[in-house]
Amino acid sequence: MSTPSNSTWSQRFESALHPTIAHFNASIDFDIALLEHDLTGSQAHAQMLGKTGIISAAESEQLVQGLETIRTEYRQGQFQPGVEAEDVHFAVERRLTELVGDVGKKLHTARSRNDQVGTDVRLYLRDQIEQIRQHIRAFQQALLTLAEAHVETLIPGYTHLQRAQPLSLAHHLLAYFEMAQRDWERLGDVARRVNISPLGCGALAGTPFPIDRQFTAEKLGFASVYGNSLDGVSDRDFAIEFASAASLIMVHLSRLAEEVIFWASEEFRFVTLGDSCSTGSSIMPQKKNPDVPELVRGKTGRVFGHLQGLLVMMKGLPLAYNKDLQEDKEALFDTVRTVTGCLEAMTILLQEGLTFRPQRLTAAVSEDFSNATDVADYLAAKGVPFREAYNLVGKVVKTSLAANKLLKDLTLDEWQTLHPGFEADIYAAIAPAQVVAARNSEGGTGFDQVRLALKRSRQRLES
Ligand code: ARG
Repeated sequence: MSTPSNSTWSQRFESALHPTIAHFNASIDFDIALLEHDLTGSQAHAQMLGKTGIISAAESEQLVQGLETIRTEYRQGQFQPGVEAEDVHFAVERRLTELVGDVGKKLHTARSRNDQVGTDVRLYLRDQIEQIRQHIRAFQQALLTLAEAHVETLIPGYTHLQRAQPLSLAHHLLAYFEMAQRDWERLGDVARRVNISPLGCGALAGTPFPIDRQFTAEKLGFASVYGNSLDGVSDRDFAIEFASAASLIMVHLSRLAEEVIFWASEEFRFVTLGDSCSTGSSIMPQKKNPDVPELVRGKTGRVFGHLQGLLVMMKGLPLAYNKDLQEDKEALFDTVRTVTGCLEAMTILLQEGLTFRPQRLTAAVSEDFSNATDVADYLAAKGVPFREAYNLVGKVVKTSLAANKLLKDLTLDEWQTLHPGFEADIYAAIAPAQVVAARNSEGGTGFDQVRLALKRSRQRLES
């Protein structure tokens, strides 16, 4: 096992780090994930040093080329720095100096690892946010395709997990589409605060060199630069915002996961799980387990944990950079990996792992009292005060339950004994499909509204 030499630091140091402390201190095992962003950031910095005359044009070009060579080496699997490098920034500087000689030692002019790492993390997150947004789009597409096939499939709707009113299955699925739409928009909003350049803030106070921060910001595609150098090197709000947006994505995925899990249970039997997305038991041969949604539900906790971890990491930090901030990376990397993996898995589950069972669903909505509100609405539409109608129907439900009957089983005589307002059309009014169709208020589950919502959703994906 190699350990860092004392050559990293200035001659103030006489001996090397204790080997265990060297490992404790090092971030190279994980911040190697930032390598390409570190190279890109360093190339912009080197170009700026040349452009402003802080180093010569030829030196600048040598640095840029040397950094590009490291990129090639990395992509070919030849650049594998160990713990002796401490972190990705030192690893690059060291390799650069091996490649281009002493000029490599000029790269760090007018820069600190503090503004450097802030730049790298932002570049990384900007890319990842864009990719996660594309995964959200794929997830929405899968929801929409499924919804389009199930406008007229009915499913019991619940409040308090008690049968409430029947729904168009498409309406139920589109609720998740809406959540995902907010997730997509929210990430776009977070990206705006990720996309600010800290490069040039130096260690904490700026630099005496005549740097050009606008130049590096523009080269790296940042929309603006931090206006205060202390804030620039120590701000991690954007990381917390990202973890928060990621947590909400997980909340939404986890809610859907929970529904799929109980829909697939013997108690509900609303869906069957496809073989490509479920697993068996090692002992019970009859079992098919919903591992995918269970894992999504389970992984939600770690994303929440990262949000909490980042918040606590920040809360006591005096200005400006503190090594605590090195802890932001694993939290972010794992959040990205987890959210990406869960979005991909849930998308595949919707595409091929889930088959709704229309007969089961039809039977479910036909064998309950979820049309009771409609009986009350029927009378209310005829001028009976709603509360009066509501009380009357409550009584009918009670007597029907005792007689082991459903509302549709009552004879017209029985209805009319209850209230003279009932006529033969009561049967049509309480048929499940009509119960759904009737809820045609804006944003409701009525089929016409659902078709409008599908169109609107399709347009969102296409725009
Ligand atoms: N590896 C460090 C991090 O991730 C880089 C910045 C180190 N800066 C410092 N002043 N020690 O935060």
